[in-house]
Amino acid sequence: MSLVLDPAAQDLLFREARTANTFTDEPVTEEQVQAIYDLVKYGPTAFNQSPLRITLVRSEEARERLVGLMAEGNQAKTRTAPLVAILSADNEFHNELPALLPHFPQAKDMFFSERPVREQAALVNATLQAGYFIVGVRAAGLAAGPMTGFDFAAVQKEFLDDDHTPLMVINIGKPGEDAWFPRSPRLEQDEVITTV
Ligand SMILES: Cc1cc2nc3c(=O)[nH]c(=O)nc-3n(C[C@H](O)[C@H](O)[C@H](O)COP(=O)(O)O)c2cc1C
Repeated sequence: MSLVLDPAAQDLLFREARTANTFTDEPVTEEQVQAIYDLVKYGPTAFNQSPLRITLVRSEEARERLVGLMAEGNQAKTRTAPLVAILSADNEFHNELPALLPHFPQAKDMFFSERPVREQAALVNATLQAGYFIVGVRAAGLAAGPMTGFDFAAVQKEFLDDDHTPLMVINIGKPGEDAWFPRSPRLEQDEVITTV
């Protein structure tokens, strides 16, 4: 009763949404990816810095290179998912800040002139956006399989550059047979929420 979101949408985005480990071969289209991005781009970030970058792995050659850098247990699903995306944090996000924060363009030099500060901000805010992205994938009626089990340094070298830090690889598609492990329990409210 306290939630205003339609119960079916609550199920689609959270209660019945699962982390998929197998997929059908139904393709994920560019239109779906664009619709997901056009939704999740509105998720908030500090100073609207929007540091998430997304690399879609579409070619067979790139896919095989990536599979070879995944942990063994992640290889089969990364090979067979209809779409694989590498999510990264842009440590040079400040270059876009004047356009992204037109009412306060000085923020770029006032707060983000130093690289270590940018790296910290990019990590927090791009990870936040990665969460929005997973929910956006679900909003498109698809399942996401996020993974951090891979060689981060090698993925950065092969697919990104010094300015982009890998965050996670996400398999995307319609869930296939035996797509999930049993649902694991979640922490209860009294284990998580304190009031002061
Ligand atoms: C950031 C992140 C990294 C993850 N890395 C892996 C991984 O490397 N391999 C894997 O099999 N699952 C990985 N998972 C999947 C989680 O174990 C799974 O999302 C979680 O247990 C919840 O599962 P459920 O959505 O089916 O309830 C990862 C999930 C997240 C969000």
